[in-house]
Amino acid sequence: MNSTYLRSSSTGRLGLALVLSLGTACLRAADAPVISPGGVVNSASFAAGVPLAPGSIASAFGTFPITTPARASATPLPTDLAGVSLQFGNGAPVPLLYAGSGQVNFQVPWDLANQGQATVTATAGGQTSAALAVSINAFAPAIFSINQQGSGQGAVLDSRYRLVDASNPSIAGSTTILIFCTGLGAVTNPPPNGSPALARPLSYTTTLPAVTIGGISAQVVYSGLAPGSVGEYQVNAVVPGRAPTGNAVPVVISVGGATSNAVTIAVQASAIGDPDQRADTLVSQMTQDEKLAIVQCAGGPVTDIIPLPRGAGGFVPGIPRLGIPNLYYADGSVGLADYSAPATALPSSIASAAGWDANDAYQYGRIIGTELRNYGLNVNLGGNVNLIGREPRDGRTFETKGEDPILAGKITAAHVRAVQDQHVIGCVKHFALNDQETGRYSANVQIDDRGARESDLLAFEIVLRDADVQSVMCSYNLVNGVWTCENPYLLNGVLKGDWNFKGFVMSDWWATHSTVNAVLAGLDQEQPDNQWFSGIELALQSGQIPRSRLADMVHRILRAMFAAGLFDYPESLAPVNTGADQAIAQDAEEKGAVLLKNAGGQLPLNASTLKSIAVIGSHADVAVLSGGGSAQVYPTGGPALTEGYPCPPCWSQVIWDPSSPLAAIQSMAPGAAVKFNDGTDSAAASSLAAASDVAIVFVSQWASEGMDLPSLNFADVIHSQPVDQDVLVAAVAAANPHTIVVLENGGAQVMPWLNNVSAVLEAWYPGQKGGEAIARILFGAVNPSGKLPITFAASVNDLPRPAIDNPPASGTFPVSYVESFDVGYKWYDAKNLTPLFPFGFGLSYAVFAFSQAKLVNNLAAGAPNFQVTFDLANTGSLTGAEVAQVYLGMPNGTGEPPRRLVGWQKVLLPPGGVQHVTIEVDENDTSHPLSYWDTGSAAWLVAPGDYTVYLGNSSRSSDLSVAGTFHLGP
Ligand code: BGC
Repeated sequence: MNSTYLRSSSTGRLGLALVLSLGTACLRAADAPVISPGGVVNSASFAAGVPLAPGSIASAFGTFPITTPARASATPLPTDLAGVSLQFGNGAPVPLLYAGSGQVNFQVPWDLANQGQATVTATAGGQTSAALAVSINAFAPAIFSINQQGSGQGAVLDSRYRLVDASNPSIAGSTTILIFCTGLGAVTNPPPNGSPALARPLSYTTTLPAVTIGGISAQVVYSGLAPGSVGEYQVNAVVPGRAPTGNAVPVVISVGGATSNAVTIAVQASAIGDPDQRADTLVSQMTQDEKLAIVQCAGGPVTDIIPLPRGAGGFVPGIPRLGIPNLYYADGSVGLADYSAPATALPSSIASAAGWDANDAYQYGRIIGTELRNYGLNVNLGGNVNLIGREPRDGRTFETKGEDPILAGKITAAHVRAVQDQHVIGCVKHFALNDQETGRYSANVQIDDRGARESDLLAFEIVLRDADVQSVMCSYNLVNGVWTCENPYLLNGVLKGDWNFKGFVMSDWWATHSTVNAVLAGLDQEQPDNQWFSGIELALQSGQIPRSRLADMVHRILRAMFAAGLFDYPESLAPVNTGADQAIAQDAEEKGAVLLKNAGGQLPLNASTLKSIAVIGSHADVAVLSGGGSAQVYPTGGPALTEGYPCPPCWSQVIWDPSSPLAAIQSMAPGAAVKFNDGTDSAAASSLAAASDVAIVFVSQWASEGMDLPSLNFADVIHSQPVDQDVLVAAVAAANPHTIVVLENGGAQVMPWLNNVSAVLEAWYPGQKGGEAIARILFGAVNPSGKLPITFAASVNDLPRPAIDNPPASGTFPVSYVESFDVGYKWYDAKNLTPLFPFGFGLSYAVFAFSQAKLVNNLAAGAPNFQVTFDLANTGSLTGAEVAQVYLGMPNGTGEPPRRLVGWQKVLLPPGGVQHVTIEVDENDTSHPLSYWDTGSAAWLVAPGDYTVYLGNSSRSSDLSVAGTFHLGP
């Protein structure tokens, strides 16, 4: 028997398709099926003796009366393929993936969990095979092997999806490997026939499986369902620095007490070795001039950036005599942002956060990292994790991940990890508390230590620890009277001291204000020129800056370059893979768009009954809007149209991405007359709406770095003769009771017309496949599953600062963060204010029900954790995904808000499907979910008292129920 794994064209990685070259005896239909003795095995490893895990994929080998093999193309899986079915002894029909004359691949039914033994038979043409006994386990991990029977070389890839074999060895201490496996527990859709297995789904909040490489335990950085597969898991692990080297080093996974087969990978001794040691070796060989050159940038003069190579926004020339490569810095929070480098315009990163899925966020970040690398750019100024929910009018909201530090931290960490896996230095910014653009160069943020640690700083801390990010950008503002780029509390204290950050701190562009103060406070590199750091030489001579500090600055930059692999993976320029990358852009939008209203089941639209559709406003005939500023992506294929440079900010162009919602809607409803009105004249728009079966109005809000929005309404900041979009929607809604509003914007909005329209879809800036994604959601080809990562306030009057603080003509000005750590929903809950739409909210075309919620506590002193277990059912008639959210109410007297998000899981369910879900919340996680920051002892402390655990599908109490309570301490 010889099996070969095929490459899946959609994901570009090893998929599950199995091709067998067995003798192809021509079988007559009357032949009885036969399952060979010992012929039922886990189809990852084919390892003898590995029990089958419910939910995993297995193969039955034998002879089956099939002349043309058949393959299932979608879930739920069929139970009959090519006339063959399988049955387990309990009679449960078995979901099938592939049926051929010698092999049938199937998913092990969920209702066999923990049964120990079962029998399996095959039926075809009314005849049933002899029964074969198989062993069943709750978990039985099995790693996919290649051309081997359960051992030998594995289907283990590196982060660029190349096989890790002798021709592409992993590097001890740095390579992250992607292990494809089955049997880690239930995360796929339970087939409708079986009750769900007891399972321990694995997400970042739950216990990760253990991986050993050459017997050495490896750091597991991701475990979850492999994208695009049924029943297949992906576990990412970093090859340990101490792993043995060679071409056949065994990799083993264990979970729930069961250990997998071993597969082998090639491991090479690290040329990287220890990045700190390698950096020290180089520093010792550098002259002082060379050291000085690396801590300052070549982008002068101070008022404007001279054209830098490769269109980079920052450039530090390398040192050829020592083999130090050039550093090319490029923005990229929502795709590579570089006008000389057309790139895939992804949906806003707030849409990536709205997907609530770290694995999808990794795919998003991978596009950014890959496209930078394609252009030879090697430092990504992405990773904007400012908690802009403090000020939802902030023009940069679209670049961020919303208002919750844990959600924002986890999503940003996934982006950064993916970028650094492409051997591009990642960055997290803007450190810190940089939450409004108005007066950003002189805003003096006032906040207490605990408030900062439990909000904005916590988001940074999570990224640092989860993603090992190698650079941090300090911000423009001051914190408690000190510029952040020379703030010893932030840089030397919190970042390099408490968090042990080993990479380098660069300034935001022209955010440096001094030489000696900045260097001594912890700034390692000035950007984008050398206005201040050209003075370091004098300060060294006068002794104001010790030479050891210069060596430390250089060391940090070089160690970041070693750690990200810039020395070991030299640049490889390549064209952007437009098709594949745009598919990810569309997927991110389809998973991140949030359905806010759907009265009377207005959506999904039924193409077969609609005769006429009005599409109105926002250039929806040709384009979708994108956000401006330094994050602006110049889309591949060029913009559909541009509309000048609104002022403020006066320097950023309005770019409409090339994707036509109108064309996409027409192709979803080929039989309907789809007409467009540009929305500039409400009367004309409403008369088209009145003559149509449905009206779809696109409203848009352009926003950019360098500006805040004048209000939370859809304010037209682009045109000198503003279009009042609130009036437009009201007029259309008055003309047609089937008015659907699609929002293209970067953050939270108010909607005065909300009660008069039947449906609202928050599409964010949807990226250059946005039109297609929106149309697919409107017509139900995609079921929306996004959840708001930011609260939509009912009114600006409910914001902590109803009016944005404005700068004086000169000097700094205070911005008091009165809300402290009560950012976003925590503020509304604490103040008992009802938002328009709460954090965590989003509708689906499916109907979900939570039941059987239970709390399992493990409250060991010092490291408490708990699991929330429950059944999640889809009682609707369409497949859909729900985000189960866990919030924690801290003991009275801690001063904490009523509820804090501490865990979540996105679960995909077919109609009628039920999944038993476990969400684990562990104090050892980098998000400190069970503790508060105690400034006196400078530590995270777990407070004694009563805790309440809430479970539901938004932050609002009406969407939550109490899963249980527990008590900690005396
Ligand atoms: C922005 C940063 C950006 C930098 C370089 C600054 O204006 O605040 O986010 O990375 O420019 O473009």
